[in-house]
Amino acid sequence: MKDPVTYHPGGESVQEDAGGTASSVLRTRSSRRAFIKGVIASGAVAGSSTFLFGGLGGCSSDQPTAGAVERLLSINVNGRVRRVDVLPNETLAMTLRYKLGLTGTKLGCDRGECGACTVLIDGVSTYSCSTLTHMVGDRQVRTIEGLEGPNGELHPVQQAMIDELGPQCGFCTSGQIMSTVALLEVNPNPTRDEVRHALSGNLCRCGAYDHYLNSVMRVAQEA
Ligand code: FES
Ligand code: FES
Repeated sequence: MKDPVTYHPGGESVQEDAGGTASSVLRTRSSRRAFIKGVIASGAVAGSSTFLFGGLGGCSSDQPTAGAVERLLSINVNGRVRRVDVLPNETLAMTLRYKLGLTGTKLGCDRGECGACTVLIDGVSTYSCSTLTHMVGDRQVRTIEGLEGPNGELHPVQQAMIDELGPQCGFCTSGQIMSTVALLEVNPNPTRDEVRHALSGNLCRCGAYDHYLNSVMRVAQEA
């Protein structure tokens, strides 16, 4: 049995000075610069290269900075190759929601903390707010819209979430579902602790964790 893995690709463009301290950030938006400067000032810069700030720059509706040029990419989303113009700093969440109209993927924190934006990339649960669209390449992206059956029916995980009254406000639900699907594809019969672990990257502000756990256990037992 494989453990589900959350994929947090590194690679944000941060210049380092001779001492290795992040001294300037190759970002173009002031909101993003301010955020990163704040993190540096607080001494809270994550040392892990596995964490990539998707950042507000990827989702802001501000005009792109002069010189930022979109490039036409082909990405495979829900089994279809989609052609889309993508900015260099554009996050996958931005591309999915605002260019491909796949708004089932939610944006909560937009900085890799809450899991609302979770999608699957090659079956691995991934924070789309922290993934540059340019890094997706020819991998398969799956969003909540991709779970729909051929006749519009709900995925068993979605049905179980309804049956167990999982969603409260519902904002975190698509992320919870995508993480669950990733888990069940590698471990169809998880223990409750394994489910808790698999969903640990998905925060629920409504505190509906037990409902979500019950949902996953229900769908696993029915499979
Ligand atoms: S919106 Fe991506 S982790 Fe919160
Ligand atoms: S159901 Fe409201 S945030 Fe989870």
